[in-house]
Amino acid sequence: MTDVSHVKTGASRIKKVRAMDDLLTAARTGFAHHFGTDSNGVHHDPDGVWSAPGRANLIGEHTDYNGGFALPFAIDKRTVMAVRGNGTDTFRVASSLFDDVVAGKIADVATLPRWVTYIIGMAAVLDSDHPGGDARGADIYVASNVPLGSGLSSSAALECAAGVAFNDLWQLGLNRTQLAQAGRRTENQIVGAPTGIMDQSASLKGAADCALLLDCRSNETELVPLGFAAEGLQLLIVDTKEEHSHAANGYAARRASCERGARIIGVPLLRDLTEARLPQVRDLLDDETYRRVRHVVTEDERVLRAVAKLRAGKPREIGPLLTASHNSLRDDFEVTTVRLDLVVDTALAHGALGARMTGGGFGGSAIVLCDAKRSRAISEAIRAAFENSDFPEPTIFPAVASEGARRDA
Ligand code: GLA
Repeated sequence: MTDVSHVKTGASRIKKVRAMDDLLTAARTGFAHHFGTDSNGVHHDPDGVWSAPGRANLIGEHTDYNGGFALPFAIDKRTVMAVRGNGTDTFRVASSLFDDVVAGKIADVATLPRWVTYIIGMAAVLDSDHPGGDARGADIYVASNVPLGSGLSSSAALECAAGVAFNDLWQLGLNRTQLAQAGRRTENQIVGAPTGIMDQSASLKGAADCALLLDCRSNETELVPLGFAAEGLQLLIVDTKEEHSHAANGYAARRASCERGARIIGVPLLRDLTEARLPQVRDLLDDETYRRVRHVVTEDERVLRAVAKLRAGKPREIGPLLTASHNSLRDDFEVTTVRLDLVVDTALAHGALGARMTGGGFGGSAIVLCDAKRSRAISEAIRAAFENSDFPEPTIFPAVASEGARRDA
C-alpha cells in the first residue's frame, strides 16, 4: 500500500472532511435533530441511508455530449442522505453545510436554493416518469465531504444519492443507466445546465480501483482496472479553489460550437468523425469551430489509447496522454485557466508522468499522475507556485477510485 499520509489536505471549502463512518453518524444525528420528533412528539427514524460519490475524470473531456468516450471514476468523497418518506406532498431538506431546513413541493422546484434543486429536481424527474400521487414527500438530511464548486461533481453526488434513495423508497426498479439519465435530465431540464451523462454515470457505476469507460453514443459502460498502486503510482487531485459553474456561458458555448461543427460537417455527432478525416473538414469550418472539433475528435482517440494502456497493465504510459489532453483543452477547446495550467506545468516540471485539468474546466480541479515517491515534492512545488502567484492555497489529496452510489443502512 502506498503511503500517502504526507499528502496534506489544505483548508477545505466544506465545513469538515469526515470519514465515511463520521458522515453516516452526521447524517443520522442531523436527521434526528431536524426531523426525529414530529409536532405530536412522535419519534421517527429515517427509512434508510443512501450515499453517492463525487467523480474525477481520468481522460475524455467534453466528449460525452458529443456521443464520444470518457473515462471517469468515482472518488472517495461522498454525499450521504438519511431519508424518510413523510406521507405528505412536501420535501423538507437540511444539511451539514447550510443551516436552515428548506421545504418545498415538486412544483416549487424552480424556486428553491440551487443545492436543494438537485435533490427535489431528481424527485420531479422520477415522479414525472412514474407518477406516485401526492404523498411522496420526504424528510432528508444531507451530510457530505464532496468539495463544492471544485469540478468534482458535488451536484451529481446529490442527484445520485437522491436517485438511489427514491428508487428504493418508491420501488421504481430503475437500473443505474436509467438513474443516470434521470440525473442528467435534472441538470438539463431543471437546473438548466446543458451537461452530458458523464458525472452521473461515474457516481452511480463507479467501482473501487476502477475507471468507467463510457461510450456516450451507445450508452454502454465498462469498468477498467486502474492498478496505479501496484505500479508504485499515485494519482493526485488538485483543487485550485477557482470556482466553476456548469450553467455558466462558457460550457454552453463550447457545446454549441460542437453541435455547429457536426451540423456543418454533416455528421450526427462529432463522435462519428475520425482523426483521419480532420484535414478534409478543415476548410468547411471557421478556425475556432475547427479547433473545438479537433479537440473532441483527438480526445476520443486519447481515451481509447489510455484504455488500451490500462488493459495492458501499463498505467504509467497514460501520462503523456493526460498531458496531451490538457494541451488540447488549453489550446483548442480553451477551457483551462491560469491556475489549471500552473498546476500542470509545475507538476510536469517536477517529474509528474502526466497532468491535466479534470471536469468541465473554467476553474475547478486538476489531476496529476506521478511516482508515489514524487508526490510530496510535486505537491509542495504546486503549493509554492500558487503562493508565488498570490493564489489561495490549493487542496491536494490522493485520488482513490471508489464504489458508486449505494444504500448504506
Ligand atoms: C461537466 C459535465 C459533464 C462533461 C464535463 C466535461 O463535468 O457535467 O457532462 O461534459 O463537464 O467533460
